Amino acid sequence: MNEEATRFLTAMAQALATMTLYPDGHPAREGIIDTAYRNLVALQRVAPRTGFSFLGDEVLLGDRPIREMRGWDWSGRLSSAGVQRLQFDSEVAREEFEGFLSEVLARLTLSAIQRVPGPSQGVHGAIRFGAVGIRELEPEAEVVTATVAMTLREEAETIGWLHEEMLEGRELPLAEAEAVVRSLSLAMHGDRAVVLPLLSLRRFDEYTTTHSLNVCVLAMALAEWIGLGARDVRAFGVAGLLHDIGKTRIPLEILNKAGRLSPEEREVMNRHPVEGARIIIASEENLDLAAVVAYEHHIMMNGAGYPRFEHPRDCHQASKMAHVCDVYDALRTNRPYRAAWPASKVVSYIEERAGTEFEPEMARAFCKMMSEWEPRVASMDEPVAPDPHAAPPPPPAAPAPDAAAAPAPDAGAAPSAPAQS
Ligand SMILES: [Fe+2]
Ligand SMILES: [Fe+2]
Repeated sequence: MNEEATRFLTAMAQALATMTLYPDGHPAREGIIDTAYRNLVALQRVAPRTGFSFLGDEVLLGDRPIREMRGWDWSGRLSSAGVQRLQFDSEVAREEFEGFLSEVLARLTLSAIQRVPGPSQGVHGAIRFGAVGIRELEPEAEVVTATVAMTLREEAETIGWLHEEMLEGRELPLAEAEAVVRSLSLAMHGDRAVVLPLLSLRRFDEYTTTHSLNVCVLAMALAEWIGLGARDVRAFGVAGLLHDIGKTRIPLEILNKAGRLSPEEREVMNRHPVEGARIIIASEENLDLAAVVAYEHHIMMNGAGYPRFEHPRDCHQASKMAHVCDVYDALRTNRPYRAAWPASKVVSYIEERAGTEFEPEMARAFCKMMSEWEPRVASMDEPVAPDPHAAPPPPPAAPAPDAAAAPAPDAGAAPSAPAQS
């Protein structure tokens, strides 16, 4: 029976992971739920009444640990989300099972942004789950920790994979990008008020991935803040997610260089907006907004930035939005050449540059939103200090490799030099 139980639990976890990425009715989602359900039916054939307990990294079937499942990371996730006990009392219908999975998914998302409230029970027909009876069984087993890193890990992996696909010269996997946007939007609205699930950089070479996800979240938040409808919010989210996709065409030694870029390297780096727009247009003609944002996100209001134009051009609203979100996230992130700035400092920086670098209304809206929503930033990971061994010590006023990470020398009318704190 252990074998059927293991197969069922593994399939259930795969279903939950897939459900975070695909909407209701998507064939990938339906297929994986069917598979998990088939495995449940097979398990119930040998054990019509079955109960599981998830205790940290231990899985119990009835009251016996399943040795093969020891260290199964979903056990900790389910337990953290308040699903420490799962009981099938009699035959389960497919519909009940899907309802149960949706509720568990909601709990997993909720646990991503806040502590799970005390023991509660969920019931879906013959399925009961929650913290039932666990306290008596194992008083110390209540693991209530934020599981944000877990819930967004798949999204980060998807974007990492998407960037690799680009590196290999393959087509932009648009369905996956949109699924990530949906998933982030879900994480933002798992609570009554909006939550900004922002990732902290764990590894230097993950910068483009975490940055893309954060700009996506911030762009959607700002779009919502200024009152755009759900469709536009998603479209701005996709554009935010893909704004730096052109960096996949930049040689890694330039992209990941810790110190100052030479003028030649800077020239190569500054091609990423054009490259990004090309990639997006070649992949999907319906993504014209994302292509425009990729192209325009480093153009400043006063015409500085890049690509360069003889006459200043009025950029799309979504590009102005992406620009401010881009700078905010870049400055809030630890880089080898400077530590992350505190939120208040970044906000004042944006305020100061409203009217020169940033469109004033957009800058004002962003700063107002952040002053209100900053307390609702759910940090996905503990920020790490820049690794002192990762790079030679930077010169005191070294510009960042990307103009977004700190204003480049070509930034033009900077009212004050960015502090290298
Ligand atoms: Fe960029
Ligand atoms: Fe960027």
